[in-house]
Order: sequence, then C-alpha cells, then structure tokens
Amino acid sequence: MAEMRADPLAFVTEMNRRYGDITSHVGDGERIYMLHRPDLVRHVLKDNVANYTKADTPDDAMLRPLLGNGLLTSNGDEWARQRKLCAPAFRRTAVTTFDGIITEETEALLERWRPAMESGTPLPVEHHLTSLTLSILTRAVLGVDMGAAGEGFGRAVDATNRFMGHYVPDPDPDPIDTALRRKGYVQARTFLQLIARTVIASRRAAGGGAAHASPSLLDAMIGELDDEALRDQVLTLVMAGHETTAKALTWTLYLLDRHPAEADRVRAEIDAVLGDRTPTAADLPDLVHCRRAIEEAMRLYPPVWLVSRRAVGPDVVDGYEIPAGALVCVSQWVLHRHPDHWDRPEEYVPDRFADGAPPHHLYLPFGGGERICIGQHLAMVEATLVLAVLMRATRLELEPGFTVEPEALVTLRPKHGMRMTARNR
Ligand code: HEM
Repeated sequence: MAEMRADPLAFVTEMNRRYGDITSHVGDGERIYMLHRPDLVRHVLKDNVANYTKADTPDDAMLRPLLGNGLLTSNGDEWARQRKLCAPAFRRTAVTTFDGIITEETEALLERWRPAMESGTPLPVEHHLTSLTLSILTRAVLGVDMGAAGEGFGRAVDATNRFMGHYVPDPDPDPIDTALRRKGYVQARTFLQLIARTVIASRRAAGGGAAHASPSLLDAMIGELDDEALRDQVLTLVMAGHETTAKALTWTLYLLDRHPAEADRVRAEIDAVLGDRTPTAADLPDLVHCRRAIEEAMRLYPPVWLVSRRAVGPDVVDGYEIPAGALVCVSQWVLHRHPDHWDRPEEYVPDRFADGAPPHHLYLPFGGGERICIGQHLAMVEATLVLAVLMRATRLELEPGFTVEPEALVTLRPKHGMRMTARNR
C-alpha cells in the first residue's frame, strides 16, 4: 500500500501492465478489485449497476463530511429524486444559454491578465482558471455573482481540497501538520456553508423561485428542498462543478504549449471561425479543433482519474468472484492509456477524436452509466468557449524550466501548479 500512497498513478498502471485487466490487492485492511477492460467497466457502471453503490467508498468518506447528502454522494431513491430535479438545468440545450456568462467572465480574466501580459510576468494559470470556473458556475447554475466574495470562496475551496485531497490515508501522519490542516478545513467548511446559506438567502430575497426574471437551477430547487438539503446541493454543485473543468483547461493549455503544431491549428480555426468576434454557442459546431484538443487532453490527463464502487452482493466478472462488500475501482488513467486499445497511447494526438468519440467505456472522463457526470455538457461548452477566448487573445507559454508533474489527489492536478507567460497575439 505504500506504493499506492507514494505514487498512485504508477501503482495502478503497474498493477494493470503486470497482472492484467482484473486485479486484486490488499489496501487499508481490505481487498480492492481493479477492472480495466471496457466490457468489465460497463458491467459495473451500467449493466449490473444495481449491485454497485457509492456508499462507503473512499470518495464517500472524503466528500460526505463536506457535501452531506447531495447528488454526488446520495444513493438509491434519494439520488434518483435529486437527479431528476437537477437534470433539466444540465441538458445540452439548457447549458448553451450560458455562453454569454462564460465568455464575459473569461474576457474579464484576460483584462486582469493585461498588466502581466505587458510585463511578461508568469501567471499561476491553474489557480486563475479555478477562480474563473468557480465564477462561471455560481453565475450560471446558481444565478449568483460572487464578485469579491469569490476570492475568499476560492481560498476556502482550496483549504478543503488540501485536507480531503489525499486519496489514500497516510497511516503515520504528522500530527501537527494534520491538526493544522484540520483546523483550516473546519474553518473553511464553516465559511463555505455560510456562503451557501447566504447565496440561498439572497436568491430567496430577490424573489427566488420560478418567478425570478431568469430562473436558475437554484430557483428550481428552492421550491423543492428544505434548507439543509438545499445547502448540501449548492455545495455539491459548486465543488463538483468547477475544479474538474479548470483542470481539463489547465492540462489542455499545457499540452498545446508542448505541441506547437496543434496550437497553430487551434488558432487558425479560431481566426477562421471567429475573426474578431467573441464566440457564442452557435460557433461550437465549428470549433472542432478546440474541442478535440480538450478531449485528447482529458484522455491523457483525466481530471477524475479513478472511480470506486462497493459491491452490494456477490458478483462474478469474467469468471472472477467479487465478494459482497468488496471495493471495486476503475481508473481512467489506466484505461485512457491502455496499450491494447490505443495507438501511440502516450502521445497527444487530438485527431484521434476526428471520427467521433472512442468506445464509451474505454474513454470515460465523465464516468459512465446512470451516475455519469450531470455536468458533462456544461463542462464541454464551457471549456471550448474559454479555450477559444483565451487562444484568440494570447499565446500561453510554460515558464522555462518549470516542472510539470501530475499528482493524483481527488482530481488529477499539476503538482506544482502551472506557471505560464501570456503574450499578446
Ligand atoms: C471536465 C469537467 C468534469 C469532469 C472531468 C467531471 C467528471 C465526473 C465524473 C467522472 C463523475 C462520475 C463519478 C463516479 O462515477 O463516481 C462526475 C459526476 C458528477 N459531476 Fe462531474 N465532471 C466535470 C464537470 C462537472 C460540472 C461542470 C458539474 C456541474 C455542476 C459537475 C457535477 C457533477 C455531479 C453533480 C456529479 C454526480 C452525478 C451523479 O452521481 O448523479 N461535473 N463528474
């Protein structure tokens, strides 16, 4: 288990390459099964979904103390009810109406970058993209402009991530370090819950509910949920909905910088489709290279690198017995780079998406089955438009000598951040 803790990505890859697509090992006092063949993944996430729950998984243990019983953490009938309530706001047609919010917030970020662009000062791009996706999410989904509170909100989200971050608990943690992080976490959680309550109250005071001038998902939920359920759902949507998209964008900008020919194609497309215009949702079908650049970045660096489930009853997969209560994991990191399924798996080749998406349970940045990411269309619309606005105005280059190294926490992030210089195009 020490290997898993030290380098989870190397560990899951090594297990697969050495022992095959169905493996089991003992970790944290229990046997853990890992499945890395599309048909087996489909079996767990879709065909036999009734036998697999998110309850009592490591994700559940990390997320429930903060998010309570929202859409990400609930199960069974409670989950189905919540999913039905939220689904209309995340349909493809619904999320395209957020295009104005997305481009406006991105252009405001470019304005803030202007002095650094002029002086050539490197920017902490990962951090800024996280604030950007947070502002977009709260405005689009909750109908609330966080404004200056957004900065404090972003910092509190960071503190909770740092505490929850490590997927595998350290058996021998430094007590002072843990106490400090816990203190930061508790403060941050209190702050986040306060903000969530304030957001709800302000929307209520503004005549929330369907009667609002432009009703948001929050308005729809205000009529349906009690205060605690509402708070859990607001925090769930905020936490699930911004960091992942920021990571997808961060890795895309990194890979485009490392592959100048691909970046040139993206820029040529943006010039041809947009000229001097700000993009709208109507441009999305024409921004194919932007989209493929993001899809391929999420193949190599899936923001969610592992999903886990607990078997309710015993099961048999491809002749192997999985006992009731077993923890079953699927890693996107392993599947997305599996040499049996991909040509040149380690290379960044956006054109592999030219003929449509790869088989569903082989490429699953958004998961699969009924628990598939509810925000997948929003994430793609958002990432594509943000990329187009940024690449139209700037040339982002990694700071020379800066080390980029993936780190598998709850999400797959660049361990040292991403320092890039933005130059005027
Ligand atoms: C690139 C961006 C994103 C990625 C890679 C991503 C990835 C995922 C994955 C893999 C799951 C399934 C987890 C599992 O099966 O255990 C998931 C679920 C979820 N995601 Fe996303 N996500 C992204 C953006 C978003 C956005 C924008 C929202 C908007 C609020 C969102 C909200 C959720 C929620 C609420 C769930 C739980 C759904 C359920 O269980 O019914 N995600 N996401």
